[in-house]
Amino acid sequence: MALQNFGVIGLAVMGENLALNVERNGFSVAVYNRTTEKTTAFMENRAQGKNVKPAHSLEEFVASLERPRKILLMVKAGKPVDAVIEQLKPLLEPGDMIIDGGNSLYEDTDRRVADLEAAGLRFIGMGVSGGEEGALNGPSLMPGGTREAYEAIEPIVTKIAAQVDDGPCVTYIGPKGAGHYVKMVHNGIEYGDMQLIAEAYDLLKNVLGLTNEQLHDVFAEWDETEELDSFLIEITANIFKKKDDMGDGFLIDKILDAAGQKGTGRWTVVSSLELGVPIPTITAAVNARVMSAYKDERMAAAKELAGPGGKFDGNTQGFINKVRDALYCSKMCSYAQGMALLGTASQEFEYNLDLGEIARIWKGGCIIKAGFLNKIKRAFDENPNLANLLLAPEFKQTILDRQAAWREVLMAANGLGIPVPAFSASLDYFDSYRRERLPQNLTQAQRDYFGAHTYERTDKSRGEFFHAEWF
Ligand code: 6PG
Repeated sequence: MALQNFGVIGLAVMGENLALNVERNGFSVAVYNRTTEKTTAFMENRAQGKNVKPAHSLEEFVASLERPRKILLMVKAGKPVDAVIEQLKPLLEPGDMIIDGGNSLYEDTDRRVADLEAAGLRFIGMGVSGGEEGALNGPSLMPGGTREAYEAIEPIVTKIAAQVDDGPCVTYIGPKGAGHYVKMVHNGIEYGDMQLIAEAYDLLKNVLGLTNEQLHDVFAEWDETEELDSFLIEITANIFKKKDDMGDGFLIDKILDAAGQKGTGRWTVVSSLELGVPIPTITAAVNARVMSAYKDERMAAAKELAGPGGKFDGNTQGFINKVRDALYCSKMCSYAQGMALLGTASQEFEYNLDLGEIARIWKGGCIIKAGFLNKIKRAFDENPNLANLLLAPEFKQTILDRQAAWREVLMAANGLGIPVPAFSASLDYFDSYRRERLPQNLTQAQRDYFGAHTYERTDKSRGEFFHAEWF
């Protein structure tokens, strides 16, 4: 009996799509799902006539795979991953490998890599981006963990990943939970991008009064520009065209303004606080989702707390262009924050990340794919130790050229009472980062005043601490 090349456990849509992607690329696949009905339905429909073998027990599944076994888990992050690993462990043999393709917390992946390596097995935590479509036709893959395990799956993952001008959108990210860490930060950046686009939409709709057709045109035009050409801008343009099939008008106007989240954006913020890397744009994006979910409270507050009112009286096309510039400048700051977080995590956790290569594998397949990642890749290829993306010549000049427009947009928004938390967080990041002197001399004075926490002096060496008798 011929053994299958690759196994997939978990047949929700991402698992199904990845299994079909692997099969389409010439590898035989075994599949297993906890509920047999799901497996049967898959075999009778999407997997019909394909080189996919169903298994009805884990024993049967494991026995159907060639060695070393390569088993992709596509189950819910958290306890279900541990539960399946525990069931699989006694069935596996040395050298076999488990690949977790869910959005697992990197710390869980650190632990699982260590546990399985200690048991003679191998473990890969693999970030998979691109949603259902990407999983089927070419995702961006971020595998980290046991190095030899990556070498064993490389022929498969390089085929199933999205392909861009400079190769497949996959690379070995690093040891331990590096793959899931990078995917987590990818998602933090995704939250930032989505919030910045939402703020641009708010401004175009509520300052300028653009209709959905006009919004479609603006975003479609931005998608043609070198700076903003991206998957998220493209789908945004498409969203404004979609009519509501349950009633009149456009669907976008019927969707409740209360955003959900599954946790990866929040984890990014938690990690940034733990590592001491400011990521205010991404933090603002997470908070904006949280605030949006207070729908009932906001509806009540809207009756009590009036804003400034007033109308925009400038040039419409001029303002659209300024919003575009503000969006681009804010986006640069958001990516600068995400990459800085990766840089620090790389040192702190000894991930040895190649930031240029990470930007490259995000160029295709994933939610944040964008032409702009070429520039990020170039910036880190030219200087792998770049302290901050904003200092790379290409970014520096663009932001300096556009900062006036960016500031004008924020002044207009503030004047009219339109919240722009991520645009503002980005500008504050830029203004704080570029300033030689910040007011934290006062913070230090206060700390020393009430708690003798000491301070350094501008006229003495760094690392020399002083205390004053304040009373
Ligand atoms: C991707 C996405 C995906 C994520 C969803 C939902 O890269 O394909 O990041 O992995 O799960 O976007 O995330 P939220 O529910 O937290 O918005």
